[in-house]
Amino acid sequence: MSNGDLLEVNGLSKSFMGLRAVHDLSFVVGQGRIVGLIGPNGAGKTTVFNLVTRVLRADNGSIRLAGEELTVLPPHEVNRRGIARTFQNIRLFPGLTVLENVLWTIGTRARYTLVQSMIGLPTVHAEERGMLEEACDLLNAAGLYDRRHDKARSLPYGDQRRLELVRALATRPRLLLLDEPTAGMNPTETSQFADHLLRLNSEGMTILLIEHDMRFVMGISNRIVVLNYGSKIAEGTPSEVQSNEAVISAYLGRPRNAGG
Ligand SMILES: Nc1ncnc2c1ncn2[C@@H]1O[C@H](COP(=O)(O)OP(=O)(O)OP(=O)(O)O)[C@@H](O)[C@H]1O
Ligand SMILES: [Mg+2]
Repeated sequence: MSNGDLLEVNGLSKSFMGLRAVHDLSFVVGQGRIVGLIGPNGAGKTTVFNLVTRVLRADNGSIRLAGEELTVLPPHEVNRRGIARTFQNIRLFPGLTVLENVLWTIGTRARYTLVQSMIGLPTVHAEERGMLEEACDLLNAAGLYDRRHDKARSLPYGDQRRLELVRALATRPRLLLLDEPTAGMNPTETSQFADHLLRLNSEGMTILLIEHDMRFVMGISNRIVVLNYGSKIAEGTPSEVQSNEAVISAYLGRPRNAGG
């Protein structure tokens, strides 16, 4: 691996009953970068996330995080190695409050046992306080602190997406995988969300991002990887990719100047 690559995907393939969802895909995500993964509907983007997080088993290829091979690990180990994701379809606990949703995730991460909590050791109380503080800090940074006692289901859609991000961050990842995080957001929410991601990135977070909102993804990504029918058809800076003929025709189904 080259020194700065946090995630390295090499020759990754996955078929579903003959359908090649991901085909011989290779790309890297450098430490501290924001990489956009784009492509038309059904191009295989979410499947890549499912392969990287080991929810799905790859047919071929390797996935390394900081040089460590992930394809031999079960999904919970992948998360413990430092990969967190959000989902295309929001997965919150709708009946829990915003704060409870975050605490639940932090609690899963923390070395916190039922026995300890029953005995009520002082270290546990300290740990609980620490968890509460951490949850509130994360909610504050995402602009959700004032809604911490609201039920997750009562939040506007954009806020639910931001809560998903907070929950992913609560696992203290090294790499964030975001699957269409701005879907359903209005332009103001999207631009606030972009600011939040850029702030996280400036603090060192590495991000791989699936997006259909081109303005958003081109605006915040260092590099863009383009998939079509499971294969990488282009890769480069946002401006390189935007002027790439293969990308244009994949999106439009024809070259840009062919008959208006
Ligand atoms: N578990 C599965 N079983 C069978 N086929 C699947 C499965 N997951 C994905 N596919 C198929 O693989 C292809 C790629 O799907 P995927 O969800 O990865 O695309 P995508 O790029 O995320 O699309 P979208 O932009 O619409 O979310 C599609 O044809 C899809 O129907
Ligand atoms: Mg998808």
